[in-house]
Amino acid sequence: MSDAILQTVGLTKEFRGFVAVNDVNLSIRRGTIHGLIGPNGAGKTTCFNLLTKFLQPTRGSIRYDGRDITGMKPAEVARLGLVRSFQISAVFPHLSVLENVRVALQRQRGGSFDFWRSDSLLRQYDARARELLEDVGLTAYAGLTAGELPYGRKRALEIATTLALDPVMMLLDEPTAGMTHDDVGRIVQLIRRVSAGRTVLLVEHNLTVVSGLCDFITVLARGSVLAEGDYATVARNPDVIAAYLGDEASTEAAHG
Ligand SMILES: Nc1ncnc2c1ncn2[C@@H]1O[C@H](COP(=O)(O)OP(=O)(O)O)[C@@H](O)[C@H]1O
Ligand SMILES: [Mg+2]
Repeated sequence: MSDAILQTVGLTKEFRGFVAVNDVNLSIRRGTIHGLIGPNGAGKTTCFNLLTKFLQPTRGSIRYDGRDITGMKPAEVARLGLVRSFQISAVFPHLSVLENVRVALQRQRGGSFDFWRSDSLLRQYDARARELLEDVGLTAYAGLTAGELPYGRKRALEIATTLALDPVMMLLDEPTAGMTHDDVGRIVQLIRRVSAGRTVLLVEHNLTVVSGLCDFITVLARGSVLAEGDYATVARNPDVIAAYLGDEASTEAAHG
C-alpha cells in the first residue's frame, strides 16, 4: 500500500481562459492532517472541488487509494471513502439533530430514502446516530431542530453527517469560517478527534487552526504551489510571508 492516499499530477483548472489551479502536484500521506492554505483567490476551493469531483479538471490527473479517479463522479468517490463535508447537502433545518444524522446513515446504507425499513433497522440507525452525536458533542441538542442550532453547532452536525458515511478521507473547506473564538476551539478539538485513523485535507484560512492541527501544509498562491512543509517551515518562507502580506495589503486597500 502506498504511503500517499491522494495524489495529483499537473492538476489544472481554467475558467474561460483564467487559470484558477495551475499544474498542481499534491501528495497527501495516509493518516495525516494535510492543510491547504493560501491567500484569498489562491485556488483552494477550486482545488477542493476538483479533488471531490465537483469540478472536472482542464488537465491533470487525480489518484486516490491506488486508482485513477479523474473521470469519476462525486457519488462514486464518496463510495470509495473520499468524502467532503457537506457532501450530502448537509442539514435539513426542519428535522431534528438526531433525525439529520439518521437520514445520513440511511443514505449511506440504501443510497436513497426507504420508508419501508423495519423498526429494528431504524432503531439500529438511532443507536449509531446517538453515538455520532456523542462524538461531536451534540448529545444535549439531539431533540432540537437543526435550524435552531447555534452556528458553530451546525458545523459540528455537518461533521457528524459526514462521519455517518464512514469516510476513509475527509475533506473540509474552511470548517471554522465565521465562527466565534469558543466555537473555533471546539471544532479544532473535534477535527483532531475524528481524524484518528483517517486522512484529512483541511482548507483553512485561520493560521492558528492550521498550525495546531496540520502535519503537513501546501501553500497555494495564484493557483500554483508556492511552498510545502510543516507549519514552521512554510511560516518562515519569505515567498509565503510576501504572499500573505500582499493579501492583507490588498484587503486593506479594498476596505479603504
Ligand atoms: N466558477 C468560476 N468561474 C470563474 N472564475 C472562478 C470560478 N471559481 C473560482 N474562480 C476564480 O478562481 C480563483 C480562485 O478561486 P478560489 O478557488 O475560490 O480561491 P480560494 O478558495 O483560495 O479563495 C479566483 O480568482 C476566483 O475568482
Ligand atoms: Mg475558498
